[in-house]
Amino acid sequence: MTIIDGKATAAQIKAEIAQEVEQIVAQGGKRPHLAAILVGHDGGSETYVRNKVLACEACGFESTLIRYEDDVTEAELLERIAQLNADDSVDGFIVQLPLPRHIDEQKVTEAISPDKDVDGFHPTNVGRMAIGLDCFISATPLGILTLLQRYGIATSGKKCVILGRSNIVGKPMAQLMMQKQYGDATVTVCHSHSQGLKEECRQADIIIAAIGQPGFVTADMVKPGATVIDVGTTRVPDATRKSGFRLSGDVRFDEVAPLCSHITPVPGGVGPMTICMLMLNTLKAGKRRNSAENRK
Ligand code: GUN
Repeated sequence: MTIIDGKATAAQIKAEIAQEVEQIVAQGGKRPHLAAILVGHDGGSETYVRNKVLACEACGFESTLIRYEDDVTEAELLERIAQLNADDSVDGFIVQLPLPRHIDEQKVTEAISPDKDVDGFHPTNVGRMAIGLDCFISATPLGILTLLQRYGIATSGKKCVILGRSNIVGKPMAQLMMQKQYGDATVTVCHSHSQGLKEECRQADIIIAAIGQPGFVTADMVKPGATVIDVGTTRVPDATRKSGFRLSGDVRFDEVAPLCSHITPVPGGVGPMTICMLMLNTLKAGKRRNSAENRK
């Protein structure tokens, strides 16, 4: 059984990105620049955005953090997005979700230029991904694909069961695992209303659990020799931690791990790859803009 080390893989990829950035700069190109909009003071969002800024530093990117209080209007936010779309110094930007309830997240997502949408959430990028065209692929599915590739886990022709059908993970993961140029697998998507979910899982060579229920995947759902990818990051109260919580995955790691050929832990599996893939998308955005500049 191999524990997939997302933290080490992410560190390695960030070092590779930093090396490429220095080459670009040495050849007279521009450093990639990521901007992030953070609204309010949600603890989780603060942590994510702080880690994104730190990852930019590690990769040699420029970064800009734009903060608003919870009472920012939708119009103000849309105006700032329009400015970022037009700002040639910015290669890509994100609006950290969730947003306060008075702001329409879909409207905000669709206001971001697809060329700068390094989160890969804009319908143009989602649609292009679905039909196998060049696009920004959202970070979590791209991180999972990268882990599978870097650990040499065969996916072509294999049976992959995805638990969860969210727009951010389940749906794009299914699209990518199915496509010839990525997973090339036989894909089944199960969700909260699926009948025979355990039986489906028991037949899977690869299980990708993104259902958001701590400990949902138990040993009796896993075929010996399967690969199990745990996307769950539910905060559960833990009085022994300084923060008062710990992250819990969707998989009962202790009982499932001994059965697996490969498994991701929580934390330290998929999580660290997510921010790293945002960096990779920002590098791609920067390279695209550098070459567009050279063609002018
Ligand atoms: N909130 C939780 N995950 C994400 C993410 O990947 N991107 C953005 N923009 N917000 C998030």
